[in-house]
Amino acid sequence: MMKVVLVGCGAMSRQWLDAARQIDGLAIAGLVDLDAERAQARAREYDLSNAVIGTSVDAVLDETKPDAVFDVVVPAARREVALSSFAHHCHLL
Ligand SMILES: NC(=O)c1ccc[n+]([C@@H]2O[C@H](COP(=O)([O-])OP(=O)(O)OC[C@H]3O[C@@H](n4cnc5c(N)ncnc54)[C@H](O)[C@@H]3O)[C@@H](O)[C@H]2O)c1
Repeated sequence: MMKVVLVGCGAMSRQWLDAARQIDGLAIAGLVDLDAERAQARAREYDLSNAVIGTSVDAVLDETKPDAVFDVVVPAARREVALSSFAHHCHLL
């Protein structure tokens, strides 16, 4: 099973989550957004009740220890997400 954390639960996250649920062996382990309610809404929408929800990339990666991160944030936040992902030994997509 490949565990993935998606960061950035805005408009484009739906495209990523739609694609992810068609891939056998991929589990969304966490959802991160600065707006926690936005992340919780995505979890409800995609039946991800077991996903860890948070506003801190580092905290969710610490807790879930995923294999990969889906980076769906705005460009200004990409550097932070990339550095955190690599620090946690995650692939970045
Ligand atoms: N919307 C589109 O049709 C489209 C198409 C192609 C590419 N993109 C690209 O996809 C990316 C996301 O676009 P979008 O439309 O989903 O944007 P959006 O503004 O709807 O969503 C971005 C989300 O990222 C969150 N975010 C910002 N900084 C964060 C951080 N440090 N940690 C966690 N979450 C953070 C915001 O709170 C927001 O919910 C952008 O780079 C955009 O250029 C969008």
